Amino acid sequence: MSKKAKLLINNQEFDFPLVLGSENEISIDVKQLRSITGGVTTIDPGFKNTASCESKITYLDGEKGILRYRGYAIEDLANNASFLEVAYLLIYGNLPTEDQYKKFNDDIKSESIVDEDIKKILEAFPKSAHPMGILSSLTSALTAFNPTSNTIDYNRSKAELYETIVKVLGKIPVLIAWTIRKKNGLPLDYGDTSLGYVENILKMMFKKPNETYVQNPILVNALNKLLILHADHEQNCSTSTVRIVGSSHAGLFASISAGISALWGPLHGGANQAVLEMLESINDDGGDTNKYMQKAKDKEDPFRLMGFGHRVYKSFDPRAKIIKVATDEVLDDLGVVDPVLDIAKGLEKEALSDKYFVDRSLYPNVDFYSGIIYRAMGIPSDMFTVMFALGRLPGWIAQWREMRLRNEPIGRPRQVYTGENHRKYTPISNR
Ligand code: ACO
Repeated sequence: MSKKAKLLINNQEFDFPLVLGSENEISIDVKQLRSITGGVTTIDPGFKNTASCESKITYLDGEKGILRYRGYAIEDLANNASFLEVAYLLIYGNLPTEDQYKKFNDDIKSESIVDEDIKKILEAFPKSAHPMGILSSLTSALTAFNPTSNTIDYNRSKAELYETIVKVLGKIPVLIAWTIRKKNGLPLDYGDTSLGYVENILKMMFKKPNETYVQNPILVNALNKLLILHADHEQNCSTSTVRIVGSSHAGLFASISAGISALWGPLHGGANQAVLEMLESINDDGGDTNKYMQKAKDKEDPFRLMGFGHRVYKSFDPRAKIIKVATDEVLDDLGVVDPVLDIAKGLEKEALSDKYFVDRSLYPNVDFYSGIIYRAMGIPSDMFTVMFALGRLPGWIAQWREMRLRNEPIGRPRQVYTGENHRKYTPISNR
């Protein structure tokens, strides 16, 4: 295969090297484009055809529905691994040995104390505040209590980088648990460091005062699986945000706070809340799924079938397959009968045989079923995206770390200016 791409601009030919990924993906390296062509750029809104970086963390093939973390199939990890093992794998590149795992776990536990003043900030939020806004603000506020995290030279100090990473994995679950406790009117409390990571999160979220919290292994298993499925997804909107914010050498807490804001939107992580609200409103409207299918296809109607479609997956989302099975198991085991599950299955069935959806390769994505499990667990719908953020922490950390250790340049795209040419200012009295 030729290792070059040729570009003809106004009859002048330019050669560009090709970059080959480890799964044989081909990319044209245009790093020298502006300098050798005298300022020509490429334009690609939404980065639909642009690789923003080289990365060794996550591989996905949207045509074949493949997702792998550091080479391991998502199915294998979701069915067998613990969330913290996967976090370690994503961040450091290999599955941990027993000793490495124990140290990682212990260090995260010892960093799971949050400054008491953070409680005062949380208390000041109005009841109407969305949990994603609260989480983003509190994560940013952590910088104030860990000021050096923003100024460390991470390339030089591996120990300080490690410390910041375990702080993120230790403290943010506490913020998440406190947010849900405030919402449920429960006093804010710490967890129990004798428990596993996922068990501790459940206890921190749900334990009632003067009550012994009893772990439900079905919920522990389901949450472990959900967190693993959400742990990374290469250069999506929130991860690209984390990398680009971090590329200015902003610290990890600040970068993750920005990632949380990016995840909030309904076209990204906010879809899980939007899906459940959509399913509920279809149910309240009599359950006529066909009516909503027609609305989704009507270009005059802004309604979209939330939880369908994906920028990259064009055959199926492997995470959605795993979640669908887990949803059935959890609802069965808990004995929950949820009418929105039937609506979801009905919509999926209709969409899979509908020409509009088939022609556009629109399949259920990871968020189509996740809200139904979260609801069965007793998590309020506006906390669903917060649970997604909890799962995505290892991915954001791994991608941010990779970007900093590779010493990537500050992210600063070009534009094609299409505004006015030079105009002379006229005083207001002459306009
Ligand atoms: N319902 C109806 N039509 C849809 C949907 C949908 N959910 N998604 C895409 N389409 C249509 C578009 O109208 C467009 O049709 P056209 O070619 O006739 O104009 C075509 O399919 C392509 O859609 P785009 O929006 O151009 O695709 P893009 O890759 O930019 O967007 C996205 C992907 C944002 C996920 C989109 O499919 C969507 O809005 N889905 C619903 C929201 C959602 O579930 N988001 C979660 C994604 S997963 C995640 O982030 C964790």
